[in-house]
Order: sequence, then C-alpha cells, then structure tokens
Amino acid sequence: MDTVSLAKRRYTTKAYDASRRIPQATVDALLEQLRHSPSSVNSQPWHFIVADSAESKARLAKSTSQGYAYNTPKLLDASHVIVFCTRTEMTEAHLDSVLDQEAADGRFRDDQARAAQNQSRRHY
Ligand SMILES: Cc1cc2nc3c(=O)[nH]c(=O)nc-3n(C[C@H](O)[C@H](O)[C@H](O)COP(=O)(O)O)c2cc1C
Repeated sequence: MDTVSLAKRRYTTKAYDASRRIPQATVDALLEQLRHSPSSVNSQPWHFIVADSAESKARLAKSTSQGYAYNTPKLLDASHVIVFCTRTEMTEAHLDSVLDQEAADGRFRDDQARAAQNQSRRHY
C-alpha cells in the first residue's frame, strides 16, 4: 500500500448527506481499528462513545451550540459520530484490568514478566 498517495488523496468531510448510512460492517471495522490503536505502555487511556441514532447525535450536538454552531450540522447529518474520550485518572481498576487482559492474551512468559510489565506501566 502506498501510504503517501493515500495521504495526498485524503480530505476532511465538512458536510454529510443525512440520508446515507455507513454500512455496519464498515463501522465495525473502524471501531476495531480504534480498539487496536497503540498507546503508551498499552495504557489504553481512552474510551469511545459512538452515536448512531438521531436522538444520540442530537444530544451530542448540544455541545456545539455555544460558539461552535458551524459544527452542529456535521453532528446531526453524519451517519455516525464518535467522541474520543481520554481518562483523566489511571485508576487501580483500569490498570489491573489491562494487566489481566494482557495475561489472558498470553503476553507474559511467566509471573516475573507480568510483574515487570505492571511495574513498568505504573512507573510511566
Ligand atoms: C485548531 C483546529 C481547530 C479546528 N476546528 C474545526 C472545527 O471546529 N470544525 C471543522 O470542521 N474543522 C475544524 N478543524 C479542521 C480543519 O478545518 C481541517 O479540516 C483539518 O485541519 C484537516 O485538513 P483538510 O481539511 O485539508 O483535510 C480544525 C483544525 C484545527 C487545527
């Protein structure tokens, strides 16, 4: 794949056809890519909110009313709106949950490797 050519052809969509929907398979693939985005020490300090109904998009569009009204039609007319949310705190529960998932995924040769990863992530 020639990524430079792709970068030159890409553009930011500024207006959406409200009658068109992104096929669910395409949305699923995009969300899968988001889920696999790299993060520092695999901390995954995010979650994503996906709005795909008129009601949920209208709810999110309220955030544009104060000074960003030029964005309102984009949120209302787009097939899907994804809000990128960042964690403001690295909680114990989140750190433990990431570590458990890594173990379940077979990332650690032994308990020592698991402990080292845990220590390293908490350091960073
Ligand atoms: C600081 C900043 C704020 C931006 N805010 C908006 C915005 O509110 N609405 C919008 O449609 N685009 C916004 N943009 C996106 C730009 O207009 C532009 O679309 C983007 O940088 C990608 O470039 P492109 O249009 O050549 O693809 C913003 C860009 C920057 C750098």
